[in-house]
Amino acid sequence: MRTPIIAGNWKMNKTVPESVALVRELKPLLVAKPQQADVIVCPPFTALYPVSRELDAGEIALGAQDLFWAPKGAYTGEISAAMLLDLGVSYVIVGHSERRAYQNENNALVAKKLAAAFEAGLRPILCVGEKLAQREAGLADRIVRAQLEENIKPLMADQIRKLIIAYEPVWAIGTGRSAEPRDAGVMARAIRTAIAAKFGTKVAAEVRVLYGGSVTGANSKDFLEVDGIDGALVGGASLKAEEFAAIVKSAS
Ligand code: PGA
Repeated sequence: MRTPIIAGNWKMNKTVPESVALVRELKPLLVAKPQQADVIVCPPFTALYPVSRELDAGEIALGAQDLFWAPKGAYTGEISAAMLLDLGVSYVIVGHSERRAYQNENNALVAKKLAAAFEAGLRPILCVGEKLAQREAGLADRIVRAQLEENIKPLMADQIRKLIIAYEPVWAIGTGRSAEPRDAGVMARAIRTAIAAKFGTKVAAEVRVLYGGSVTGANSKDFLEVDGIDGALVGGASLKAEEFAAIVKSAS
């Protein structure tokens, strides 16, 4: 049985006081009932440490939104895996479509970041997904498989089994237009099949595949019920404690 994951990606939102306030509001909403899901929040870098100090109880894990591939050195403005571990971070989002779009991150770079995360002992959440034009041209499957294949190139089976993959169609992110749960399920299962073809069904059975893109408290259950979808990566709706808690509850 794969434990579902509900991960909140706060993106470039929330100052330190706002981040602390959000997590303080969220905590009591989650402890009321034992959670059946791994819950992760990914605040901006600047709020990781203060949020980490709020989370010692352990019902919520801390994730970062990105990392750099080198362990240290002359890389102005970058943040290494070791620096994240220092702050109590255990998960890291890698290859989010917004970084692929605005920071020109390509598959080779994403592969290096994934390898660096594993090397340091962080659990990466790899994001893959097609653009609207690619879906309309019937290329979604091919694009996602190609991303996946390129991104996981440096990884070994023991790392793959710990990998978390978020299928996030680019056109569904932040648009209020989520994918059809059925279509998301088809892609989630295709991702697992691709992993199985390379690493065997036992390894593939351990990989958790999430859906992301306009997930809300109102639609999360529809995704979580789908065979092959093991959770959600949530953007906008993770900025509201009540709504994020409702999404966590829908995984139970
Ligand atoms: P959204 O973002 O929930 O706001 O669509 C999802 C994501 O980017 O991970």
